[in-house]
Amino acid sequence: MLARRVRIRIRTLHLLMICIVVSSSPPEDPVKCPSSTNNNNCTVRNSYGAFPDRSTCRVGNVTFPRSEEEVMSAIAAATKAGRKMKVATRYSHSIPKMVCSDGDYGLLISTKYLNRVLKVDAASMTISVQGGVTLRQIIDEAAKAGLALPYTPYWWGLTVGGLMATGAHGSSLWGRGSSIHDYAEEITIVTPAAAPYGYAMVRKLNWTHSDFNAVKVTLGVLGVVTQVTLKLEPLFKRSITYAVRNDSDLADEAVVFGNKHEFADITWYPSQHKAVYRLDDRVPLNTSGNGLYNFIPFRATLSLLLGAIRSTEEIQEVGNDADGKCSSAKLTTSALLTAAYGLTNDGVLFTRYPVIGYQNRLQSSGTCLDSLQDAWITACPWDPKVKGEFFHQTTFSIGLSGVKSFIQDVQKLVDMEPRSLCGTELYNGILMRYVKASPAYLGKQEDAIDFDITYYRSKDPLSPRMYEDILEEIEQMAIFKYGALPHWGKNRNLAFIGAIRKYRKAAEFLKVKDVYDPSGLFSSDWTDQILGLRQGVTITKEGCALEGLCICSQDTHCAPNKGYFCRPGRVFSDARVCKRVTSKKH
Ligand SMILES: Cc1cc2nc3c(=O)[nH]c(=O)nc-3n(C[C@H](O)[C@H](O)[C@H](O)COP(=O)(O)OP(=O)(O)OC[C@H]3O[C@@H](n4cnc5c(N)ncnc54)[C@H](O)[C@@H]3O)c2cc1C
Ligand SMILES: *[C@@H]1O[C@H](CO)[C@@H](O)[C@H](O)[C@H]1NC(C)=O
Ligand SMILES: *[C@@H]1O[C@H](CO)[C@@H](O)[C@H](O)[C@H]1NC(C)=O
Ligand SMILES: *[C@@H]1O[C@H](CO)[C@@H](O)[C@H](O)[C@H]1NC(C)=O
Ligand SMILES: *[C@@H]1O[C@H](CO)[C@@H](O)[C@H](O)[C@H]1NC(C)=O
Ligand SMILES: *[C@@H]1O[C@H](CO)[C@@H](O)[C@H](O)[C@H]1NC(C)=O
Repeated sequence: MLARRVRIRIRTLHLLMICIVVSSSPPEDPVKCPSSTNNNNCTVRNSYGAFPDRSTCRVGNVTFPRSEEEVMSAIAAATKAGRKMKVATRYSHSIPKMVCSDGDYGLLISTKYLNRVLKVDAASMTISVQGGVTLRQIIDEAAKAGLALPYTPYWWGLTVGGLMATGAHGSSLWGRGSSIHDYAEEITIVTPAAAPYGYAMVRKLNWTHSDFNAVKVTLGVLGVVTQVTLKLEPLFKRSITYAVRNDSDLADEAVVFGNKHEFADITWYPSQHKAVYRLDDRVPLNTSGNGLYNFIPFRATLSLLLGAIRSTEEIQEVGNDADGKCSSAKLTTSALLTAAYGLTNDGVLFTRYPVIGYQNRLQSSGTCLDSLQDAWITACPWDPKVKGEFFHQTTFSIGLSGVKSFIQDVQKLVDMEPRSLCGTELYNGILMRYVKASPAYLGKQEDAIDFDITYYRSKDPLSPRMYEDILEEIEQMAIFKYGALPHWGKNRNLAFIGAIRKYRKAAEFLKVKDVYDPSGLFSSDWTDQILGLRQGVTITKEGCALEGLCICSQDTHCAPNKGYFCRPGRVFSDARVCKRVTSKKH
C-alpha cells in the first residue's frame, strides 16, 4: 500500500520533473540490419516495438534512396525481379503491419534520407517536400516563410508519406477539414511499370487527374510517394483555453462543439465524468502573446520514471486494483490539466488562459525526438528500448449523426462499471477530434468525430486486462453498431473487419491499384486483407481476443484459466467480449 502511494507520488513528480529534463535518446531506426555495412537480411518493426500479432517482419534488403532517381532505380530493379516492396519511414509509427511485405525476401525502401524540403512558394502559398519529410520540418519551414498548414496531427514525428498513406489528421470541421491529404495540390508517386517503360514510372498528379483521389490515401500499396506539394495559408495566431465540465451533456455538446471553434477538440475522462473542451480559435495577428505547446506526454521522460509508472500499472493489473488505477488516473489527469497539458504563455511558464500564440508553435509537438545519441536517461514514453508505456490503441471515426447515441452507450457502460475506464484515463482519456468528409477514395466518408482510446497492453499476449469486456464492447460497438471507420494507421485487427465496405469509392481505388501495380508488388497479405481482397483480417487461436486478433466465439479465445470467458456485451448484445467471471456476484 505504501509502495503504491510512493509510486503514485513519483508519477506526479514525474510530470513536474520532465519539464526540466533536456537530454534524451532519440527513437532508433525501425529497420535493423545485421551490420551497418550490410543492408541484407534485415528486420523492421513499428515505433512501439510490436505489431498487433507480435510477429517480426523480415526483409531481404533495405535501400535508403536520397532522390527520386534512386527510388526509380530501386523500384525498377525489384519490379524486374518480381520482388515485393514496401516503404519504411524514419520512425514507422503505424501500429498495424503496414510496413511488412510477405516472406523474407522483400525490398524495403526507406524514406529516411528522402527528407528535404524542396520549395516554399510564398506567391502560391505552397510547400513542396520529399516523401520522408516530417511534419515538424514542414511546420518549421513554412513558418520561416510566414506560412502555415491550418490543421495537422499533434505529433511532429510523422512523415508526409506515412501520414497521408494512413489518412492522418488533426481536429477541425472548417476549411477543407483536418486531414493533411486534403491539402495536397500535387503528389508525385513512383510506381512499377512494364518492361517497355523501364520497369518504373514517375506519375505527377494534381486535381485535374482522375487518379488524384486515389493517391491521397494509399495505404502504401500504389508505389512510393516521392514528392508532395501542400497548400498553406498565411501564418496566423490562435487563442487556446481548456475548459473542464462534467460530461452529463457531452453527447449533445460534442455534436455541435466542432462548429463553434475552429480547432476544437475534447478530452474525455469517462470514469471521472469529466470532459475537457478545447476552446481554440483564430485571433488577429496583432493580438499579444507568444504561447507554445509542448505536450507533456510527448516530452522526453526519465527512463527510471517511465519504468516506475509501468511497474505501478502492472501491479495494479495483476492485483485487479481498480481503485488504485482510478486514483492514479485522477492524479495524472489533474497534474496534466494544472500544467495546461504543456501549454505555456511565453514558451516558459503557464500563468493563465487563454494561451495566445503563432500557429507553428501551437499546432503540434514532440520534443522527445530531440536527442543525444545513446543517452538513455530519457526517451519518448513508448520507446521500446526502455521499460515504459505499452498499449493498444483503438481509434475510429463515427459520423456526427451517430455520435450522440454512441457517447450515451459508453456512458451506460460506465454507469454499470464506474471504474472501468480509469485505465484509459491513465493515457489521458479518450481524445475526440473533428474530421471532415474527404474526396479521397480511402478518406473519411462523412463529417465525423474520431475517438482515440489508449489502454494497457500486457507484455504477455495471453494475459487479460482489467475491464477487458468493457473496452472490447466499446470497440465492437463503434465498428459494428455505429459503422465507424478505423484509423488505417492504428487499431487492432478486428477493427478492420468489413472496413473496406464502408468506403463508397473503394472499387475506384482498386482499379487504380491494378493500373499502377498490376502484380501487387507493393501489396502484402495484410493490405490485401484490409482491402477485402483476401480473407483473414483476424487470426483465430488461443487467447486471440485478448490482443484483438479476433472477436471471441469460444472461451479459449479469452483466458478461461484466468477467469475470463467469452460473453455477450451488456449494451450492445451482438458484441462478444472476454469478461471476468468471479464466483462472487458484483
Ligand atoms: C505519438 C503519436 C502521435 C500520433 N498522432 C496522430 C495524430 O495526431 N493524428 C493522426 O491521425 N495520427 C496520429 N498518429 C498515427 C499516425 O498518423 C500514423 O500511424 C501514421 O501513418 C504514421 O506515419 P509514419 O510517417 O510513421 O508512417 P509509417 O507508419 O511508417 O507508414 C505508414 C504507411 O505508409 C506507407 N508509406 C510511408 N511513406 C510512404 C511513401 N513515401 N510512399 C508510399 N507509402 C508510404 C508505409 O509503407 C506504411 O504502409 C500518431 C502516432 C504516434 C506514434
Ligand atoms: C542472409 O541470411 C542467410 C541465413 O539466414 C544466409 O544464408 C545469407 O547468406 C544471408 N545473406 C546475406 C546477403 O547476408
Ligand atoms: C539482397 O539480399 C539477398 C539476401 O537476402 C542477397 O542475396 C542479395 O544479394 C541482396 N541484393 C543486393 C542488391 O544487395
Ligand atoms: C496539372 O498537371 C498538368 C500535367 O499533367 C499540368 O499541365 C497542369 O498545369 C497542372 N495543373 C495544376 C493546377 O498544377
Ligand atoms: C453538470 O453540470 C451542469 C452545469 O453545467 C449541472 O447543471 C449539472 O447538475 C451537473 N451534473 C452533475 C452530475 O454534476
Ligand atoms: C489590431 O489591428 C486592428 C486593425 O487592423 C486594430 O483595430 C486593433 O485595435 C488592433 N489590436 C491591437 C490589440 O492592437
